[in-house]
Amino acid sequence: MPFISWDESMSVGVAEFDNHHQKLVALVNKLFDAMKAGKAKEVLGDILKELMEYTKYHFEAEERLMREYAYPGFVTHRAEHEKLVQEVSTLYQKFQAGDIFLSLDTMNFLKEWLAKHILQSDMVYKPFFNQKGIR
Ligand SMILES: [Fe+2]
Ligand SMILES: [Fe+2]
Repeated sequence: MPFISWDESMSVGVAEFDNHHQKLVALVNKLFDAMKAGKAKEVLGDILKELMEYTKYHFEAEERLMREYAYPGFVTHRAEHEKLVQEVSTLYQKFQAGDIFLSLDTMNFLKEWLAKHILQSDMVYKPFFNQKGIR
């Protein structure tokens, strides 16, 4: 069983973003599996970095579409993205500096960090974009 799974209940109704979310879920699982397998610090650091970079890429894509369609919740949503990027960057920096190790707590934090944003914040744009004809 994967650590975190994407299913239809997580669909935000925009195919491109569902794909991005699936990739983010896959990266959290990849990190979890690598941690469990006791992989070297460099390997874990690389996956964490990939997660951080893909997160930025995905957030930029969402923000671009929101700006294009003048999404009313844009400012709040962007602020949440900034906070999440800050959190994952801090985690990465602390990990690289040897201040923290990856633990189940860290992994649970990342799982919540991702799932909560998709289910509670991204989900809010679903009817908005769908109404604009974006699927
Ligand atoms: Fe978002
Ligand atoms: Fe998202």
